[in-house]
Amino acid sequence: MKIMVIAGSPKAEARTRGIAQYASEVLRELNVDVLYFDVGSDQLPLFTGDATSAENETVKKLSEYAEQADGFFVTTPEYHSGMSGALKNALDFLGGKHFKNKPSAIAAAAGGGKGGMNALTNLRTVLRGVYSLVLPDQFVADPVNFDEGNVLVDELAQTRVHDLATQLKELTELVSVNKAKS
Ligand SMILES: Cc1cc2nc3c(=O)[nH]c(=O)nc-3n(C[C@H](O)[C@H](O)[C@H](O)COP(=O)(O)O)c2cc1C
Repeated sequence: MKIMVIAGSPKAEARTRGIAQYASEVLRELNVDVLYFDVGSDQLPLFTGDATSAENETVKKLSEYAEQADGFFVTTPEYHSGMSGALKNALDFLGGKHFKNKPSAIAAAAGGGKGGMNALTNLRTVLRGVYSLVLPDQFVADPVNFDEGNVLVDELAQTRVHDLATQLKELTELVSVNKAKS
């Protein structure tokens, strides 16, 4: 089984990456092949709808990973009550062809003080728009959940990401078995 993990922060130093890396570790422990894409280091051009962008190496990597993936673990920072522009730009290169009937788990890094929900609702809406099966459960990390190196160190936060990754693997398995039968 292949799960694409998307780290959705454009920043060089990003807490979102701490969630994506922890989720990747957990998924690998669960014997899942992780396809890791980081919008901060895998820098995409701006989506313009121009067909020639399909020849861009990073766009190719994004769409090849998404095509191969059986499910997705998508992480985003909350910026101004939404997902990052960099993540939305990446998702605009993809569509139902990549996501339809494939499960997704979503998680956000926010500023504390009850932030994060708006970014997740925004991300959930966009993933519904590409027909992904988004898990009802979701997770927000606050700055206190990370160390100075943006590693997710808080045990409760780790447990929540572990739970989400496990649910994602289980649902992806169920969906894959049923796809194989039909
Ligand atoms: C442009 C910008 C807008 C932000 N807006 C929000 C917000 O609306 N709600 C919130 O909880 N935090 C907000 N924050 C704080 C970030 O969500 C928080 O710092 C988060 O950890 C950033 O993740 P990153 O380090 O992966 O980019 C904002 C930060 C930036 C840079």
